[in-house]
Amino acid sequence: MTRNYDIKIAYHLDDYIELGVANPVMVNMALGVNSHCLISGMSGSGKSYFELQLLCRLIKADENSRLYFADYKGDDTFDFLHGCQRYYSYHDTLDGFNEVYGIMQKRMSGEDESRNQVTLIWDEYVANILALQERDNKLAKKVMGQVSEVLLLGRSKGVRLICTCQRPDANVFPQGSRLNYGVIVILGAPLKSILEMLLPSSEYIDMTESRTFKQGEGILLLQSTEMTFIKVPTIRNMDALKTVCMKGLSG
Ligand SMILES: Nc1ncnc2c1ncn2[C@@H]1O[C@H](COP(=O)(O)OP(=O)(O)O)[C@@H](O)[C@H]1O
Ligand SMILES: [Mg+2]
Repeated sequence: MTRNYDIKIAYHLDDYIELGVANPVMVNMALGVNSHCLISGMSGSGKSYFELQLLCRLIKADENSRLYFADYKGDDTFDFLHGCQRYYSYHDTLDGFNEVYGIMQKRMSGEDESRNQVTLIWDEYVANILALQERDNKLAKKVMGQVSEVLLLGRSKGVRLICTCQRPDANVFPQGSRLNYGVIVILGAPLKSILEMLLPSSEYIDMTESRTFKQGEGILLLQSTEMTFIKVPTIRNMDALKTVCMKGLSG
């Protein structure tokens, strides 16, 4: 059984640019560590591309983990996942979330004593919630409350969320729940308003101000303290990655 929760999520940007060295940035995503991830960036900044790598690495890190993937926009990048059992697109994304929320509830009540890692990757989470607010505000509120619950309680129960968004607007993160993401990634050229939403203080913002970030480059903030500049690797063998992802979302 392979289980190593130090996940390589990117390279150190400066080593990559200045030295051409691919020096990995590792993130501990073990049970008990807050590893809920929030990935933010403008359209085209490389969020979905990064997510695909995270999905693959999480599958490979632990054969007992269970991955779910909600793809609100039905992105072309994820076309190959159609037909996988735990892939949910567009109107079905809430089905995926409900599955994961249900697992957490059973673990909270003691009905389910298993603690294998359960992860929902939710692409374009904020756009999904905003659309839901338009369609059914009451339901949107309920879902946001449940998402907050997973963020608060999921850590000790092995239930984790990885959400992406263009702008992490406060109104879709009730009760300051943005702060409950232990792993924050900002990709591409950041708007100052987004840095203000996601970085803990002006000191951190100042440290990013002299920098420029291209597609697939950006900021990693761990547990609201440790900031690193990262470069998301280019996928060398897309077919191999797709095979791992399809298998990990099925069966
Ligand atoms: N780190 C990267 N290395 C190489 N190509 C990338 C990288 N990140 C993104 N791309 C390319 O840019 C395209 C757009 O990225 P995508 O992940 O869809 O952006 P977003 O989800 O933020 O809108 C991808 O399809 C891919 O071809
Ligand atoms: Mg995308």
